[in-house]
Amino acid sequence: MPHADSAYIPSTIQSKREFWDHVYTQIESLVDDQRVWVSNLANASSVIYNSLKAFHQFGEGERAVNWAGFYIHADLFPQPKLVANGDSPPKDVLQLGPFCGKPACQFIPVGPGKARGVCADAYTRASTILVTDVEAYPGHIACDGETKSEIVCPLIWETTGERKVLGVLDMDCLALHGFQDEDKEGLERIAGLVVRSSDW
Ligand code: SME
Repeated sequence: MPHADSAYIPSTIQSKREFWDHVYTQIESLVDDQRVWVSNLANASSVIYNSLKAFHQFGEGERAVNWAGFYIHADLFPQPKLVANGDSPPKDVLQLGPFCGKPACQFIPVGPGKARGVCADAYTRASTILVTDVEAYPGHIACDGETKSEIVCPLIWETTGERKVLGVLDMDCLALHGFQDEDKEGLERIAGLVVRSSDW
């Protein structure tokens, strides 16, 4: 099957639960044979975003999902080997990772006393945050003035004796109340899959 067909949604898929199970399976097959996180998150964000566009419950129009992607802690990005000037890059931040949608903010501070916004809160609390109305969320960072609701899910690395939050998976919607519990469960499963399938 051509890779692009991973974002195809068969007409037999009607409920959100079926939708997220299908998206999970498609991402699982794409991340199966390689472990580079940048590549896995790039394909995961593309499958999520394009599958959402192809699914009638999100689709195009006023209820569309307008952004899906990842912010990853700056420590996990490869360190540059050649730098043009002496400025050190920001440290305790989530940095924009692979995504689909319009351009978004590059850094989100997460250090003590600096954390602000839905992504930073989901990261520091290590739990999913479902925002039904972004304007009512204190500290929300508006990357796109058209976004009305949002869900952010942490990427949690767990081995025996170690638990670490690597970053977040973020999804935005043009409608108020765009996401429900089924979306939370679907995204959390996908977050677990991309964490397990990649080397960090
Ligand atoms: N709204 C997010 C910022 C990221 S964008 O939505 C892509 C926040 O409040 O953290």
